[in-house]
Amino acid sequence: THGGPSASNAHPHLDCRVRIAVVHNGIITNYQSLRRQLTNEGHLFLSDTDTEVIPHLIEKHYQPGKLAEAVEKAAADLQGSYAIAVISEDEPELIVARLDSPLIVGIGDRENIVASDVPAVLDYASKVVYLENGEIGVLTGDVIKIRRNGIQVEPREHLVCWTSEDVQRTGYEHFMLKEIHEQPRVIRDTLRSYTPEDRGSAKTIDNLFIMACGTSYHAGLVGKYLFEELGIPVRVEIASEISHFPRMPGITEAIVITQSGETADVLLAMKRLKELMVPTVVVTNVPGSTASRMGEYTIYTRAGPEVSVAATKTFVAQLIVLYQHALSYAGGRREFAQRMGVEMRQLPNTVQMVLDNETPIIECARFLSRYDNAFFIGRGINLPVALEGALKLKEISYIHAEGYAAGELKHGSFALLHEDIPVVAIAAPDHTYESMLTSIKEIKARNAPVIALADCADSEIEDLVDFVLRVPHEDDLLSPFANVVTLQLLAYHTARYRGCPIDFPRNLAKSVTVS
Ligand code: M6R
Repeated sequence: THGGPSASNAHPHLDCRVRIAVVHNGIITNYQSLRRQLTNEGHLFLSDTDTEVIPHLIEKHYQPGKLAEAVEKAAADLQGSYAIAVISEDEPELIVARLDSPLIVGIGDRENIVASDVPAVLDYASKVVYLENGEIGVLTGDVIKIRRNGIQVEPREHLVCWTSEDVQRTGYEHFMLKEIHEQPRVIRDTLRSYTPEDRGSAKTIDNLFIMACGTSYHAGLVGKYLFEELGIPVRVEIASEISHFPRMPGITEAIVITQSGETADVLLAMKRLKELMVPTVVVTNVPGSTASRMGEYTIYTRAGPEVSVAATKTFVAQLIVLYQHALSYAGGRREFAQRMGVEMRQLPNTVQMVLDNETPIIECARFLSRYDNAFFIGRGINLPVALEGALKLKEISYIHAEGYAAGELKHGSFALLHEDIPVVAIAAPDHTYESMLTSIKEIKARNAPVIALADCADSEIEDLVDFVLRVPHEDDLLSPFANVVTLQLLAYHTARYRGCPIDFPRNLAKSVTVS
């Protein structure tokens, strides 16, 4: 978070005597004043990081045999968020502490392993201990001691439900491609796992608030359509904006969507909801994650661990949960709910059809990979899918991509259109189709190349656009599934043509644990 990627900014950071070493995830917000103070006291700093104040603070408080106490005292001076692991040349134990950043201890075979999240320790541990905010852990190879407010508490062990096989590439070139191809199974598993308890006891919801970040936010935007189809008003907000709202009137319940369950912006927003006493249902993929422990109730997506930074299978799993949740409030619309339930069970086949027809997407990706900018446009329920398609493309191929409501382009962005700006248009065969055709014609009149996602039976579109990617026919409300999988593959193959490091794009982390 502070300073460029360089050897001197890399962790671990050390004290003056090079006896204490610290690794840190999070941000120390008061590091400048601490650094000034410690420099005045004679400490020498070698990096641009906020983290480096931590080993120096620990050094200041350290007395032989009392490393944990020194960490505790140093932690009291820190503002911001941290998960830290501390060792000293002079002490046998590893000390860990956390505040608002995740930290787990994997229990292995005569070894304890510290990490930010569970997938990192799957090769070594079948049980984990989650450190809670403000706790200090004192670890050796076979002992875990936890202190809370100076008092020793029993560490609570949790069984890990994933295995190391779940985080292998199993023959795929990238995790992202493997995870895209897992989606039929993920849909099936997530459909099966929703239970009547997940619905809660309320007869109806008056005013639903959904909040999330990135891809999970887009899932919330799609989910809104189904809830509102059933007459439930929904407001969807970006988690990092919530702390800037002056007031949040009338919210009766919230759904928090977070794949990792560790996104700092989401956790902060959850605190705000807690203060307002809004009951919160968490939709997450990671059992034991911080969000799952903070919410009143948690519904798990059954995607299995997602390794690639670009979220794919967790997005479709989130949609499945949101759809099932919405349908559980169908009330008088029982027939509609039943029909949707039946059609949703066909989704694994629909998605499999997209996966089995990758060749045209690969050809189209070769075309798209030559450009540096692109627009993705959608309407109605496929507008959030366009936003998601653009996010996927920019994050892994580094092509600048903007997701837009098709009707909004003419209110300014038309100025950018020319023959080097391709537009990916989702031409779903629903009530938005005619207006999408109008948008496509307007775009073509500005010479921009158009790639259309169109129904397999659409005979009109071919003559209007440069590329057509056919998607299997679906109920209007289910069309986001086939469309998003098509766009995931398009982004993947485009990034592959451009030689990008697909699973680990620059500047990004799988869980964004700083706000
Ligand atoms: O773990 P979360 O769902 O809370 O993560 C939210 C975003 O950081 C995440 O979806 C991000 O946008 C992905 N890299 C998108 O592919």
